[in-house]
Order: sequence, then structure tokens, then C-alpha cells
Amino acid sequence: MNGRFITFEGIDGAGKSTHIEPLAARLRARGRRVVCTREPGGTPLAENLRELLLHEQMDGVVETLLVFAARRDHLDRVIVPALARGDTVLCDRFTDATFAYQGAGRGQDERMLLDLEGWVHAGLQPDLTLWFDVDPAIAAARRAKARVSDRFESEDAAFFERVRDGYAARMLAAPARFCRIDSALEKSAVERQIDDAVAALEGRRR
Ligand code: TYD
Repeated sequence: MNGRFITFEGIDGAGKSTHIEPLAARLRARGRRVVCTREPGGTPLAENLRELLLHEQMDGVVETLLVFAARRDHLDRVIVPALARGDTVLCDRFTDATFAYQGAGRGQDERMLLDLEGWVHAGLQPDLTLWFDVDPAIAAARRAKARVSDRFESEDAAFFERVRDGYAARMLAAPARFCRIDSALEKSAVERQIDDAVAALEGRRR
């Protein structure tokens, strides 16, 4: 596939979402076609599952299966067709979030997650994952200012420490795909790190 698949990850409040549209605009200005999307979500079915995931109480295995069900629909209908057209896909969260939240955060068995990843992705992985890393205490302060909490955001500090460790473990397992962004820095410094990582990806793909 000709396109580029870039995912944005990090604990809630890390600030990743504010950087997606501006990056899309910078890439479009350079002539690239860009699709911005998110998980859970990105299709009508997956957006319905997102509502359930964020607001309904459920068992951790059910939660994991719903996340992957939403992901499969999203891959089939949006991500894979866009990459096949040669577009750049910017996705707000993807499977690393499942390893971080359902795996490290909620304690779901990593072997189950690896099996589901294998079935659902059919070999596809992001070309680049931007991990917006920040101290969970800073993220909590940002969340407190910004919004009403959903089922994940209302978890305690220890949960977000585990989620952060989960991201670190995924980075260790796939260092070539990951770029850690220091998300405690001011916005323009974060933007520079993003642009450097994307430029390095373009260089690798040329
Ligand atoms: P997000 O879109 O970052 O929330 P917001 O719109 O509030 O910025 O993500 C929604 C939540 O879903 C987030 O708390 C993490 C959770 N999530 C999982 O637990 N597992 C997953 O696989 C994904 C993709 C998200």
C-alpha cells in the first residue's frame, strides 16, 4: 500500500488530539491527501460502539472485544481503502491504546490481545506511532480543566501510571515504529518533534 498510516497515542490529557488537524493542514499544504480519523470510532458502526465503550459498565473481555470489533470495521471501511488510494491516514489512537488501557490498565491477558491484533490487523501496522508522553499528574490537571470525564478518564492516578507503562512497553517492542514526543513542552516545541518524526518517515519511504 502506498499511503502512510500515522497513529497518535498517549494517556488522556496528554494533548495529542490538538495536534492532529494542524498536522493534516501542514501535510495538505505540501500536496498530500489526508484522512483524519479516530478510535474507537471512525465509521457509523464503530462510533456506536464508542458510545457503549465510554459510558456502559462492562466486563474487561467484552470491552476488549468491542474495541477490536470497532477496529475491524474501521480498518475495512476507512483505513485500508485510504492507504490503498495512497492517502496519509492520521488516526487518533489505535491498537497500542488497547495494549495500554485494556492490557496494562485493566489487566487483560496480553496473549489474548496479541491474538486479536493478529486476526483483526491481518498484518497491517502503523508506519509511525507518535506517543505523546507526559507525567500523569500534568495530564490529570489538563483533564480537570478541559472536560467531563468518561469511563476511562475517571480512573485513578495508578491506572494512568499503568497505561503509561503499557505504552512504554509497546515502544520497547517496536522501537522502529514509535516516536516518543515530550508532551510536557510548549505547543510549538511539540509541533517540531512531530514534524521531525514525519519527515524521518518520508525519508525512509522515499
Ligand atoms: P479519546 O478519543 O482519546 O478520548 P477524548 O475524545 O475524550 O479525547 O479516547 C477515548 C477513550 O477510549 C480513551 O480514554 C482511551 C479509550 N480507549 C481504550 O481504552 N482502548 C482502545 O483501544 C482505544 C482506541 C481507546
